[in-house]
Amino acid sequence: MNRIELDRSDDLSGLISTYRPGFSLDARFYSSDAVYQRDLDVVFCRNWIYAGHISQLPKPGCFFLMEPGEESIIVVRDGARSVRAFANVCRHRGCRICTAEAGEVKAFVCPYHAWAYELNGRLRSKRAMPKDFDRSKYGLKPVRCEIFHGLVFINLDDGAPGLIDAIDEMNSSFEPYQLENTRVACRETYTVDANWKLAVENFMECYHCAPAHAEYSRCHTLKSPKDNEALRPAMLEEAGRLGYSTTAIDRSLPTDTGLVQYYYARNALYEPFVTGSKDGSAVAPLLGRVKEYGGGVADIQIGPVSFGILYPDHAVLYRFVPRGVQCTDMDIIWLVNQDAEQGKDYDLDELTWMWRVTSEADKKIILYNQKGINSRYYEPGPLSEMEAFTSGFIRWYLAQIE
Ligand code: FES
Ligand SMILES: [Fe+2]
Repeated sequence: MNRIELDRSDDLSGLISTYRPGFSLDARFYSSDAVYQRDLDVVFCRNWIYAGHISQLPKPGCFFLMEPGEESIIVVRDGARSVRAFANVCRHRGCRICTAEAGEVKAFVCPYHAWAYELNGRLRSKRAMPKDFDRSKYGLKPVRCEIFHGLVFINLDDGAPGLIDAIDEMNSSFEPYQLENTRVACRETYTVDANWKLAVENFMECYHCAPAHAEYSRCHTLKSPKDNEALRPAMLEEAGRLGYSTTAIDRSLPTDTGLVQYYYARNALYEPFVTGSKDGSAVAPLLGRVKEYGGGVADIQIGPVSFGILYPDHAVLYRFVPRGVQCTDMDIIWLVNQDAEQGKDYDLDELTWMWRVTSEADKKIILYNQKGINSRYYEPGPLSEMEAFTSGFIRWYLAQIE
């Protein structure tokens, strides 16, 4: 990897001040350890980050991990059936406690010297410690955790405003889907050797859809602003009749650090597509309280690195997890109605086809993007009007890390 580090004299503010609005970012934003560390400290530690879905925690003791950068957060259902989050760091000498990325436990037992913690984080047993040792002082460190329509979010910043209140106006957008009554049918991780921002920038624009995603572009009018505008009125009328919210919400660019970004908009699908599938036909039973297929598709965002596509019969949720300066996990889950049975109500290959081919293609172009940026010949290039959200993301990002 051609790592371009910031010079000692060349501090972050200096780098930010070189940014030319309407252009892509300088290579150092995608290669410098100092910038990456700043990204982790600010973007991933001061914002609400989507971690997973409640159906991944069906019983007390079920847990999964969310691991941005060097952090590892345990999200668990405790004995009282509440969902909680804790730092995955032992209070003895700091060993990781959970080493599997998901599982079910009766208690968290550290693999190093076997200190054991209850599901609510309290230290239960420790070996060979002095008589006057006060266990109550050494519980797992809690991390804030809130649930919105079945989606679990965490925030490492104790001072950040709450999530649920901040995104109150999104309730009517989510309510018809009843995502709290869905379950994960499939989970897939695509690891790409590229900086996390390239994955997000890619997801935020559909300028690349026509050239890079033939399958998506047959189905989604988002690939063509002209088609999207032309088909929007009829789609919105039908969506309203079916009970979906037709009000677009765009709070993707809050200017103050710590405020939640969120976005909801419906977009039309080309006929005869009723969902994101290979041939256009339905791939699963309808979600929520809507009784007919149709009404287009909802594109959503909550927080800086989590996006979703809500079809009438399934939802696809993305989280981008930075694993290194130039390594990012694109974690995807496919949600179906909680009563839907695989093999009877849906076929897993049909359900996941669209976002498998799309994600495979994205993984390649994001990697090629990073490789080009690592070249000495790269210089920031001008963005298209079809990359308005990417441009917005860059402005938001620079304001965050400043
Ligand atoms: S580091 Fe966990 S028990 Fe020692
Ligand atoms: Fe893409």
